Amino acid sequence: MLERYGHGGDLETAAETYGIAESQFLDFSANINPLGPPKQVLEQLGQALSSIIRYPDPGHRQFKQILGHKLGIREEHICVGNGAAECMSLILLGLYPQTVGIVEPCFSEYRQLSEQFDIEVQSVRGRPELDWKATVEDIGELMQQVDLVFLGQPNNPNGVQYRLEELRLLAEQAEQSHTYLVIDEAFIDFIPEEQQASLLTELYNYPRTILVRSMTKFYAIPGLRLGYTIAHPDIIKFMTGKQVTWSVNGLALLAGEAALNCDKEFELGTMELITEQRVRLIQGLSALGCEVSPGEANFLLVKLPESWRAIDMQQELGRRGILIRSCAMYPGLGDNHVRIAVKDAEANRIFLTEIEHVLKNVG
Ligand SMILES: Cc1ncc(COP(=O)(O)O)c(C=O)c1O
Repeated sequence: MLERYGHGGDLETAAETYGIAESQFLDFSANINPLGPPKQVLEQLGQALSSIIRYPDPGHRQFKQILGHKLGIREEHICVGNGAAECMSLILLGLYPQTVGIVEPCFSEYRQLSEQFDIEVQSVRGRPELDWKATVEDIGELMQQVDLVFLGQPNNPNGVQYRLEELRLLAEQAEQSHTYLVIDEAFIDFIPEEQQASLLTELYNYPRTILVRSMTKFYAIPGLRLGYTIAHPDIIKFMTGKQVTWSVNGLALLAGEAALNCDKEFELGTMELITEQRVRLIQGLSALGCEVSPGEANFLLVKLPESWRAIDMQQELGRRGILIRSCAMYPGLGDNHVRIAVKDAEANRIFLTEIEHVLKNVG
């Protein structure tokens, strides 16, 4: 099993397991923009290397200013973190919930972080007939029992969004039941703006709703780490009060500033590529007898034909230099579910050729 640390993208374990150099893999197990970082980011990083002799700004002021301007929000509503993952831990440290609610299947860190902080976790299951979303009623009931709920929007691993009306109902319910609603929008940038369902412009109505976003996926800088939270200033103060000074490094901040300043071309190019290639992967995999969830993000949840187990397919493809994410360990999913990233045309062509070969000739 490649998910030794609970996640995809573990090239070191893959290299050890299959005896192939890390650089030789096509990695469909981590959901990173296949275009790589914008060229402005790479240029900025090249020029900025000499700045590592200085401490980064512990107040993240430049980045917050650019971000606030881009999103149309005031800086006191923003907390910058060492990835969305640090933002989640600061939320738990700052708000100190006794119980956390999650909707399974979901990003494993919601549970893992909570348990690391000795917080009790309660869960409801997404429904297969709703493409693994839970109903508003199910989540509403969960909210009555816990202090804080994590919700993925779009959710990992199925890539499906809750509708705006559903989010409004949940945010209202959160106010009534005095529960925090943490909406993880780490992948929302991959969805065209007019199709994004986000409470960003309505947050002033819902002081207990918190948005978490990542810069590492869309701008392809997971190794640098950068994310942010948007919430009521009181929540932001609780979070920053728990943050280790300088936890966000200087290169990450500079890369983030360059990413936010980059032209629309990068965003449009990404959107076009992902939309086109997602359709191609859905068609290719469906023709091979796989069931694909109708995800809207840059990854797809795939149910392999019944005779296949995720772990065996991972092994077969891994030996051929292709990494996929087994989803067998996600509560609620079966042992033949896998998740694959949407990559560029050439990588997807190789993937479809290899999985076809495996499905037709192995097993
Ligand atoms: C749903 C989801 N949220 C958050 C994260 C963490 O993002 P970051 O790299 O910004 O810490 C991940 C990483 O895989 C994720 O899948």
